[in-house]
Amino acid sequence: MEIQLMNVQRQHETYASEYENAALNVLRSGRYIGGEEVSSFEEEFASYEGAKYAISCGNGTEAIVLVLRALGIGRGDEVITVSWTFFATAESIASVGATPVFVDVDPQTYCMDPALVESAITEKTRAVLPVHFYGQSCPMDELRAICRRHNLFLVADCAQSAGTKYKGERKNALGDVSCFSFFPTKNLGGDGDGGMVLTDNEDVARACRSLKVHGSGKDGLWTLKREYQMKGIPFPENMPVGESKYYNYLFGYNSRLDALQAAILRKKLKHVDEFIEGRRKNAALYNEALKDTTYVTPFETPESEHSYYIYALKHPNAPEIMSKLKNAGIACGTYYPVPLHLQGAFAHLGYKEGDLPVTEELSRTTFAIPVFPELYTEEREYIIRTLLEALHG
Ligand SMILES: Cc1ncc(COP(=O)(O)O)c(C=O)c1O
Repeated sequence: MEIQLMNVQRQHETYASEYENAALNVLRSGRYIGGEEVSSFEEEFASYEGAKYAISCGNGTEAIVLVLRALGIGRGDEVITVSWTFFATAESIASVGATPVFVDVDPQTYCMDPALVESAITEKTRAVLPVHFYGQSCPMDELRAICRRHNLFLVADCAQSAGTKYKGERKNALGDVSCFSFFPTKNLGGDGDGGMVLTDNEDVARACRSLKVHGSGKDGLWTLKREYQMKGIPFPENMPVGESKYYNYLFGYNSRLDALQAAILRKKLKHVDEFIEGRRKNAALYNEALKDTTYVTPFETPESEHSYYIYALKHPNAPEIMSKLKNAGIACGTYYPVPLHLQGAFAHLGYKEGDLPVTEELSRTTFAIPVFPELYTEEREYIIRTLLEALHG
């Protein structure tokens, strides 16, 4: 038997005519950039997650970059985040010129440990950027309280957590600003790249809207005026002012969700709760089957309704177990094998092994197994059997 870790083809097969018709309509419409599909998807996704404003963009990485720029974060600023995440989280911080400050994660939830945040705050800190890792919400109440106390922005990296609830509601898992990815394997995955920023803050929404299209037009002008205002500098009299897209006010980006992706994502959004339910069901069956073994199964906090983008087991012999699974045709892997504070790209920050012991241990002892909702019963049972056999020599 060959089982993929993530299989997006099966979902497509189930809803092929729905998705393909949506794509065909866009192809025949001649409207490929912006338009009704994009604005409707923004509205529908904002309403699903419980936010006021949605700004679609090219991918989850650019969603974070847009947000940091919109918040005026850049050179000389620090952003507190985790090292136990995908590279893009901290790469985005570095790419706006700011410095990521890494804190360790909670050994049970694998999410940012709020107890470690306050001591990492300096006079340069501008934001806290937690990651709802694998689809489990961070303790947002605690993080929100710290941010309020220190006048910091709370930016949630929700790339892995579309549909995740905190304290019973999706909107409780959102930060002041939240960044989503629609990479194909995600709980809500497009048929290509895509991303979204959600916020209730009108000013931040407006700045993101302008930055994603070269800082142009009305929103660009408004954002630039806001920047001058925030710095207390008078707005220059001699600036050419116009509201068309050919008047540029900021060095922004070309970061758009295209109409084809939006049309397909609108269809997928209708089914996302069912996909998450399928993931949760698989996770519960794994938990039950492995509960009296040496595997540590994922810990779900009472506050967070995990959406299981990834189901990871923890075991001291993770490398040997993974090789047994692979030999049995079961794809698996560590997410992520090199913590960010030990990545070459961040070597200049001077972190060393031992600085974040929980993160480092997780990178050696955890591995993800297939949890996608279309997994067949016999595949799941085969995975469980193989996992149990792997413990006995
Ligand atoms: C935690 C996290 N942040 C950010 C991203 C970046 O998203 P994208 O691949 O859409 O740029 C990802 C994507 O996998 C992610 O897992």
